Amino acid sequence: MTVAPSILSADFARLGEQVAAVLDVGAKVIHVDVMDGHFVPPITMGPIVVEALRDQVHEAGAILEVHLMVERPERQVDAFAEAGADRILAQVEATPNLHYAIDAIRRRDVEPGVVINPGTPVEAVAEVVDDVEMVLCMTVNPGWGGQPFLPHSYDKLRRLKALVGDRALIEVDGGVDKDTIGGCAEAGADVFVAGSAVFKSDDPGQAVEELTQAALGG
Ligand code: DX5
Ligand code: ZN
Repeated sequence: MTVAPSILSADFARLGEQVAAVLDVGAKVIHVDVMDGHFVPPITMGPIVVEALRDQVHEAGAILEVHLMVERPERQVDAFAEAGADRILAQVEATPNLHYAIDAIRRRDVEPGVVINPGTPVEAVAEVVDDVEMVLCMTVNPGWGGQPFLPHSYDKLRRLKALVGDRALIEVDGGVDKDTIGGCAEAGADVFVAGSAVFKSDDPGQAVEELTQAALGG
């Protein structure tokens, strides 16, 4: 049960402090949402943010997970690998060359993963499951933090777990909070991205601890 705080909902004027708060309670994955204004409407952040956080995150024994919501993710692999990404997740809808993108990530000694949107069937990852470390199931439509969890995701997660088995980690992203995280865990998810549930709370560290307990069924 790993909660991965998404810095999308953090206060960027004090980003280091906010990341320290979740690293201090043992967060092992920091999730970085990269949006290009094409695959999704907003533009967020690029490799310079990964580079700015790399030492702090690595010194805490945690990893930087980069979620690319960009067209043609294969074109961004080198820049994020050089910036210090430990895992790069590519949206299956964003490239006709998914296998090539995964291969490009692996060749940079970065862990590859793939992401499916709410409207994309789980079968879209069938041919690449053995080539990735992680499959991320979006539980909102990508582009914004703070959206409500899509309830059809529980059933979809069960079908994804049946397809993936133990060959890759299953992650959920979007609308994950104390009310939805337990159902995701029961349905087969291993890693839980949480943005607003962590960084819009008064105490991000405590929020991570409470989410972890809720994922464990507490
Ligand atoms: C949405 C991003 C998410 C986002 C989740 O497109 O991929 O990682 O930060 O935010 P919450 O947890 O607020 O739904
Ligand atoms: Zn994300």
